[in-house]
Amino acid sequence: MEINGKTRTCGLIGYPVEHTLSPVIHNTLAGLTGHDLVYVPFPVEPGRIQDAVRGADALQILGLNVTVPYKSEVIACLQEVDTMAQNIGAVNTLVRTPGGYKGYNTDMEGLYRAMISEGIRIEGERILLLGAGGAARAVAHLCAMKGAEQVYMLNRTLDKAKQVAEEVNRVAGREVICPMLLQEYDKIPDGQYLAIQGTSVGLAPQDDKVVISDRAFYEKIHTGFDLIYNPWETRFMSLVRECGGRAYNGLKMLLYQGIIAYELWNDIRVPEEDTQIIYGKLQEYFGQIP
Ligand code: ATR
Repeated sequence: MEINGKTRTCGLIGYPVEHTLSPVIHNTLAGLTGHDLVYVPFPVEPGRIQDAVRGADALQILGLNVTVPYKSEVIACLQEVDTMAQNIGAVNTLVRTPGGYKGYNTDMEGLYRAMISEGIRIEGERILLLGAGGAARAVAHLCAMKGAEQVYMLNRTLDKAKQVAEEVNRVAGREVICPMLLQEYDKIPDGQYLAIQGTSVGLAPQDDKVVISDRAFYEKIHTGFDLIYNPWETRFMSLVRECGGRAYNGLKMLLYQGIIAYELWNDIRVPEEDTQIIYGKLQEYFGQIP
């Protein structure tokens, strides 16, 4: 693209930021939609997040994504925070407003839209959620907010799952999250479940790892969604498939969190054809033929 006097800037703040795929998403989108916009990564050293947000505002940076380790810390620097992001306690997208930045959590909206695009529902579903860390906690809030019937949250450390359950159930006003130890999976009531893999286990280079390996657990899963997208097919996904379920990786979540951020910055709805083009680019990046 040609940069000129009117080119607007968006970017990513985090530390480190070198491995991000977001510039591929946003710069391609700018080209497809014809916006005069450029997206760049900005490394922000520890202790400098407030300076970075203030500086971005002064420079009239239209929008920012926020990544590790600032998704919670950044909240104190914002003018306003959207309800879902507030409930989750994590923000990954900032939109510049006249009074400062407003924060959103497009990670969870992205997961939701990725699921819809695959025909997966949360409303009324019985869900198995693996993990109780930052990512799984956000998923627990999403499931509660989108009307899941019951979520069994299985974690290695029971106390962490209990804490998350208490917090989410309080916000939701109902006992939707049921905390359990990983090895208690045999106590899950009979039935068919949507399962979401939200632990860090199975991430490359530990491709062959999974938190539960017993097939009896996978027999209960009609659909498995792993938040991991590297490797392309995790051990969790192959176990779901081997036991007759459908399985998806987290690349569409990454895709849609970016699409939604771009929509917020530019006040548009990205056409489905453009979304598919970006998805093809991301697939190519991972060595998958689109
Ligand atoms: P993230 O931000 O990716 O969610 P995190 O907050 O560190 O990362 O959470 C990691 C999750 O993976 C936790 O649920 C963690 O379980 P604990 O709460 O017991 O630590 C889970 N996890 C990580 N390594 C694990 C392992 N080897 N076996 C089982 N669970 C593991």
